[in-house]
Amino acid sequence: MQRTHAATASTMPVFPPADNSIPTGVFSPARPSDQRTACPILNALSNHGILPRDGRDITASQLRSAMRYLSVSPELAYLAVFGPYNFHPPSALLRSAKEKGVYTDAQRNRVIDYSLLNLGPGFIEHDVSISRQDREVGDPIRADPALLKQFLSFRPPGSSYAITDTAVYRKKRYAQQAMSNKSMKYGLVEHSIVAGETTGLHNIFGQGWNYEIPQSWLKALFVEERLPIEEGWRVRSFPFTVIEGWLVWIFVFIFAWPFTSMRELWQGSAKSAVRESKLSRIVHSF
Ligand code: HEM
Repeated sequence: MQRTHAATASTMPVFPPADNSIPTGVFSPARPSDQRTACPILNALSNHGILPRDGRDITASQLRSAMRYLSVSPELAYLAVFGPYNFHPPSALLRSAKEKGVYTDAQRNRVIDYSLLNLGPGFIEHDVSISRQDREVGDPIRADPALLKQFLSFRPPGSSYAITDTAVYRKKRYAQQAMSNKSMKYGLVEHSIVAGETTGLHNIFGQGWNYEIPQSWLKALFVEERLPIEEGWRVRSFPFTVIEGWLVWIFVFIFAWPFTSMRELWQGSAKSAVRESKLSRIVHSF
């Protein structure tokens, strides 16, 4: 019998835990055999069993359900999930779920493993992350302890990070990477993705008009890759819609604009003494 996911997409998420011994929702860090991504939020969802704990065989429907759990509206969840399943370069890691007898929707008959998202730059992965190193100079998938420390001490202990703080932090990270990674790749596409990640993070976990996230919540998310439920986070009571996301994205895109000149934007890492000195001033203001 054919099964579609139409019913599940509009109702509560379906959580098929890979490890049935751990109840869904309970936090349990990844085992060595589990796959994880460079996305702390996907990792946290897997660590709670809201996405498969082993990071494998994830259907678009499961991913959308997990987004819905985080209060993302159905339309925005659809847009967020469409790309990875439809535009990622074909790969042996994409397998037809039909072959496994899972479901047969022609558009969404694929499953992905997290390792697909880790294949390298060109789709979602990019240089200048908050918590991961650039591929050219380090590990782009696992969080870098020094970067985590730097991010979590960007604001005084016990404070919250408004969306403007994270946007400014992103700008500083750009200057830092531009100084340390001579082959850094960061242009309009990467900046758009980064603005999207920042928007998602603050819309889902932020509070108040400037989407403030307590430092302890960021620590749970980025260091333990755990949803900050113990610290008091609750799923927001109204959905995070495309319109809200779009407005906030524009704001972040402008506020986090890191390029020191138009020439630099068009030519990539255009080298000039003026740019070097501007970047170095930004890095030293950390
Ligand atoms: C609403 C849910 C999501 C939120 C709030 C979110 C948030 C974030 C944030 C804040 C980062 C930046 C991490 C850093 O710079 O250290 C990130 C990175 C990433 N996200 Fe997500 N994400 C979400 C959903 C997704 C989905 C659905 C995918 C793809 C299936 C995805 C794939 C990635 C990847 C591959 C990265 C690594 C980019 C890089 O730094 O190279 N994320 N995400």
